[in-house]
Amino acid sequence: MKNILAISGSLRQGSSNHAILQYLGSIVPADIEYAIYNDLALIPAFDPGLDTDSPPAPVVALRKLLTEADGLIICTPEYAFGVPGGLKNMLDWMVSSSTLVDKPIALITASLGGEYAHASLLLTLGALSANVIADATLLIQFIRSKMDNDGNVKDEETLKDLKDVLDAFLKALSQP
Ligand SMILES: Cc1cc2nc3c(=O)[nH]c(=O)nc-3n(C[C@H](O)[C@H](O)[C@H](O)COP(=O)(O)O)c2cc1C
Repeated sequence: MKNILAISGSLRQGSSNHAILQYLGSIVPADIEYAIYNDLALIPAFDPGLDTDSPPAPVVALRKLLTEADGLIICTPEYAFGVPGGLKNMLDWMVSSSTLVDKPIALITASLGGEYAHASLLLTLGALSANVIADATLLIQFIRSKMDNDGNVKDEETLKDLKDVLDAFLKALSQP
């Protein structure tokens, strides 16, 4: 059984990025294990001096989850023309452990604009030697206008784009 871990770059209650990850979880086939990681706020600020044989416990736990995952879905907003600090911080902790080397990754940036964070993440994931699946990358702009009052994605085109991203990602995961 394939196992997907999903991480939102937004910690906000009612986050549209979190809602997108929940939507994807609702449409993954039953034979895929899918979990949203909710402990990003517990990861301490990256300190190379603490990146030793026994790094902080939340980092150890996340590295284990990522190692065990067949693939990772990142869904994030952009803040101040960049990647949200918590998400970038988590990625910095993954450099020395090589946790994300060759790891299949789907990247969704859902924001007002988002193009800077999207491009920056592609660079960072490249530096980590992750396997970003080209057909499983998506930039969703004006995300808040594409949500309904209950916090669900309502825009049909966006829903279709998300299904296409998931299909491409699952196809990549199923290849030997
Ligand atoms: C401090 C702050 C800075 C932001 N800067 C940007 C930005 O540079 N580019 C952008 O596209 N959106 C920016 N936004 C808007 C976010 O994209 C928008 O709030 C988005 O819905 C956040 O994602 P979420 O709904 O998952 O929390 C900013 C929001 C905040 C709170």
